[in-house]
Amino acid sequence: MDERIVSGEELVEDNFEASIRPNSIDDYIGQTEVKDNLNIFMKAARLRDETLDHVLLYGPPGLGKTTLAYIIANEMGGNIKTASGPSIEKQGDLAAILSTLEPGDILFIDEIHRMPRFIEEILYPAMEDFTLDIIVGSDSSSRNIKIDLPPFTLVGATTRAGDLSDPLRDRFGIVLKLEFYNTEELTNIVKRTSRVLDSPIDDEAAVELARRSRGTPRIANRLFKRVRDFALVMGDGIIDKEITSLALDRLKVDKLGLDNTDYNILKAIIERFNGGPVGIDALASSIGEEKGTIEDVYEPYLLQNGLLKRTSRGRMVTDKAYEHLGIEKNN
Ligand SMILES: Nc1ncnc2c1ncn2[C@@H]1O[C@H](COP(=O)(O)OP(=O)(O)OP(=O)(O)O)[C@@H](O)[C@H]1O
Ligand SMILES: [Mg+2]
Repeated sequence: MDERIVSGEELVEDNFEASIRPNSIDDYIGQTEVKDNLNIFMKAARLRDETLDHVLLYGPPGLGKTTLAYIIANEMGGNIKTASGPSIEKQGDLAAILSTLEPGDILFIDEIHRMPRFIEEILYPAMEDFTLDIIVGSDSSSRNIKIDLPPFTLVGATTRAGDLSDPLRDRFGIVLKLEFYNTEELTNIVKRTSRVLDSPIDDEAAVELARRSRGTPRIANRLFKRVRDFALVMGDGIIDKEITSLALDRLKVDKLGLDNTDYNILKAIIERFNGGPVGIDALASSIGEEKGTIEDVYEPYLLQNGLLKRTSRGRMVTDKAYEHLGIEKNN
């Protein structure tokens, strides 16, 4: 398990997240386009007195997919039932969840891309016609039964929309892609967290923290908590820019939010593959990381930040990466 402080993935220490999660769409900072569109769809559904169409949320870890699922439930006034792709092992598991649904409920399936295909099939009629189509009994005595389900909204979340089967993806009426947050948005998230946790942070410090959070609210909140510790023990409890920089340097989070693993990736491409292009498999084995982890967790931010680029022949580092690492480019 990845335990980097700048990992976008959820770590044990993030268990405070529920308490700082925004509950309403107005409290949800950034993602303006997603929010504006979602607001229209939710309003329209309410005006028509219908349930919201099924929603697929995708984007890198820690950008607010789960948060948004809970907000949708709040805004639509439905109860939320949650499940996660890998925990649904049999068709019966999913049928059992579906049969507990009440009108207007939100069924949130996290990591929906990890649900096995043969289970997905149960979802198709459920999503399309609100019916549960199951086979009971076995062999000669088996028969098909159809059970009516109440109208509900499926909210699926995934870090890899590309891994979803076409028939499943096509059944979501609303598909929303979450993007990395800019520094201003993250600054506002940090300030909001500071208010919720009642630990003041000054403006400059909030910006510094935001810049080093890889565009990811989960990381911003996690770093905020650690910086708060440094301020309490090494300073006077006030979170200013000086203590923030000191803390983040100590935590080995650099000015762009990169840590050792990011350096390893960029350095490997430069030193072992002459800057690239290099295929993802070769890169993964050269640094001893899983291919999927590089693709889902490390690479998106490096790409977004213009340190890495993807070409048809593989990954290449950019001039910005040479500069940031202080390595001379040799052609
Ligand atoms: N737009 C936002 N405004 C304020 N805080 C946010 C926002 N988005 C996320 N957060 C904060 O970041 C934390 C992580 O968000 P969340 O758990 O929703 O991410 P996720 O996309 O579901 O991640 P994963 O892919 O790991 O499931 C939340 O606890 C919340 O406090
Ligand atoms: Mg989540």
